[in-house]
Amino acid sequence: MQDVRRWNIEEIIANKRKGCKDSAGTEPLQRDQSMKQSELEQLLKSMSLEEKINQMLQVTGDFYLGKTVITGPMRENGFTEESVAQAGSVIGLLGADVVKKVQKAYMEQQPHHIPLLFMLDVINGFKTVFPIPLGQGATFEPELSRRCAQAAAKEAAVAGLHVTFAPMVDLVRDARWGRVMESTGEDTYLNSCFSKAMVEGFQGSDLKEPYRVAACIKHFAGYGAPDAGRDYNTVELSEHTLREFYLPAYQAGIEAGSALVMTSFNTIDGVPATGNKWLMRDILRDEMGFDGVLISDWAAMEEIIYHGYCEDRSDAAKRSIAAGVDIDMMTGIYSERLLELIQNGTVEESLVDEAAMRILELKNKLGLFENPYKDADEEKSREIILCREHRELARECARKSFVLLKNEGILPIRKEQKTAFIGPYTDNHNILGAWSFIGTSEDAVSIRDAAMEVLDQSKTTFFQGCPVLDDTVKLEGFNSGEGAEEESKAATNLEAEKVKQEKMLQEAIEAAKEADLVIMPLGEHRLQSGEACSRAEIVIPEVQMELFRKICQVQPNVAVVLFNGRPLDIREISGKAKAVLEVWMPGTEGGHAILDVLTGTYNPTGKLTMSFPYSVGQVPVHYNEYSTGRPHVPGKDKDRFRSKYLDIPNTPLYPFGYGLSYTSFEVSKAELDRREMKLGQVLNATVKIKNTGETAGTQVLQLYIRDVKASVVRPVKELKGFCKVHLLPGEEKSVTFEIREEMLRFYSENKVFESEAGEFQVFIGVDSSVEDYERFYLRK
Ligand code: NOJ
Repeated sequence: MQDVRRWNIEEIIANKRKGCKDSAGTEPLQRDQSMKQSELEQLLKSMSLEEKINQMLQVTGDFYLGKTVITGPMRENGFTEESVAQAGSVIGLLGADVVKKVQKAYMEQQPHHIPLLFMLDVINGFKTVFPIPLGQGATFEPELSRRCAQAAAKEAAVAGLHVTFAPMVDLVRDARWGRVMESTGEDTYLNSCFSKAMVEGFQGSDLKEPYRVAACIKHFAGYGAPDAGRDYNTVELSEHTLREFYLPAYQAGIEAGSALVMTSFNTIDGVPATGNKWLMRDILRDEMGFDGVLISDWAAMEEIIYHGYCEDRSDAAKRSIAAGVDIDMMTGIYSERLLELIQNGTVEESLVDEAAMRILELKNKLGLFENPYKDADEEKSREIILCREHRELARECARKSFVLLKNEGILPIRKEQKTAFIGPYTDNHNILGAWSFIGTSEDAVSIRDAAMEVLDQSKTTFFQGCPVLDDTVKLEGFNSGEGAEEESKAATNLEAEKVKQEKMLQEAIEAAKEADLVIMPLGEHRLQSGEACSRAEIVIPEVQMELFRKICQVQPNVAVVLFNGRPLDIREISGKAKAVLEVWMPGTEGGHAILDVLTGTYNPTGKLTMSFPYSVGQVPVHYNEYSTGRPHVPGKDKDRFRSKYLDIPNTPLYPFGYGLSYTSFEVSKAELDRREMKLGQVLNATVKIKNTGETAGTQVLQLYIRDVKASVVRPVKELKGFCKVHLLPGEEKSVTFEIREEMLRFYSENKVFESEAGEFQVFIGVDSSVEDYERFYLRK
């Protein structure tokens, strides 16, 4: 990396503005209210071209303090000391006092004393960590995610942050891609509901309000569809699929007012998103109506050169600004090249004005001109961060995110039973997920911690059984402090490690023999899911599978608790274990939430939002596939020329929307109040749902619709509504879903979203495999 001299904050404060250009010659802005639009325009006019271009640069906090959260590759860059000193925003610098100090120093020397923006990825929480987004999706409760985002915003805001790079609303279908953990899943409608809720949670209705941070919808567009699930790989989507399945969740976030959008690394129709004028100007700005700040992903502006789309950094600057990218995250390409490109007439200065204006507007919306420190406050940080209320919310969200995949009557744990917990997640605090930079594992509650609080200790034992990974799996390339070192340390002392592991195994087997029930907390390493964590074999690490097999040989009652960031091939586990509980990466209150469910204090309600494949060869598998001309007909496997596999079923192991409860439910067939629907009319689809078991429970009823014939091929089924119903034992309720014409719209042959007259099928059930339906006809 080019050696840019680090700032000496004290020096800057002492020599207030010494040697800095001050084109306006003004004193620091003392304002008691926001800038009016005309004042912002005035400010822009008085700024020099360099100053405007520097507003478009984002650098990491280490340029200011030598200490920051680094979330991407550090490369050569074109920063100069002056451009860094005047960069408009910074990533990864936080802590109330630090932020205040840097903000003060920055503003002292910025020619117009414009405040700096502080940004970071606050994904599933700040210091209080909530379940990973894929787990949050499984709650089918966007309102809960709105509250989690609000709590995360509060913690981030008092630590001095103004913007979070969240939510990620990329639709995901390929479980090999490590970043599926950051999405709420494979469904367009559900993702849109979460997108809206999370943006509202972070931002509230006014960014100036206390404890709000600006949201950034990402990654625009289609980043969730990399070929073969390999991160940063080409995306090959038809415009139809892009518009119909992928764009709606971004649109929902934009309509909810997301202040920023981030470009994606991938190509769309052969053109890298960051330099894609059609995507960013025609679609994002003109069609989707986004008028906020468009920021490039980390180094994405430079990467369009490596895509082979731009000749050099000047070309990359030209194409990115033509596409309307306002902030360059970490390449320095704008600050290095734009001035010259404008001076030689290649780029219009009006493009810089446009971008700088949007950045000023964002600062103004956040209220930074009147209060550049916004909510940064050490005392409040101590009060708010990891407060009891946030921990309780984390526990609520975690237990609602768990999905009971199988249960042959062995869960919940009966307190009189002798229970052995065996597995590497038994007393593991690394359960926060890969995107939790701020949360620390020491604050997380492990299964053991929680079990010690609620189970009879004389009847409960705990064994690690084996490590999360053995020396056959290498976690390479991670930053220090991310947690990969433990594994590599073990891998260097192979002999000693072998002896240790054998001992752990034998102890576990003996304990399993003596117990009435074995709970096995198994899973991926937390660094096996996340950015740059694609996996071709989506399985539980072999060392854990060996432990699992050995325990199953001596103990018939095995319940597996699964920690992972993505759907896995768990055929063997689901075949042999009597119960399987999916807990994702559950966050700070994980252990408490898991014990709530294992003991039956909380009856599980979570539902999968991404199909669990039968095997990796089936991936990408999702419920809402297009109809084919040769559909597979269940039971007709010998019918050869059908769309099917010779060796595995078409259906996933566990489908979208699936999840069990400790009670049972009966759902009647849907009844429609009319067979024909005209424009403007509402059709009511009603089912009766009864709790037929002995415990109170909550079911997620799901409404799916199929458009039988249309001008373009339609999915076999699409989620159009859902609702959570709580029922006491024996209780029955009627639930009605309203169906309106807008819900039947799709991207038609006319290249617009519209509905077409004709037949529709309505399915209401407890997962996407529901088969019974009723028909109705839309008349126009
Ligand atoms: C790269 C990731 O793709 C993006 O999601 C993230 O916001 C940035 N790095 C900044 O950390």
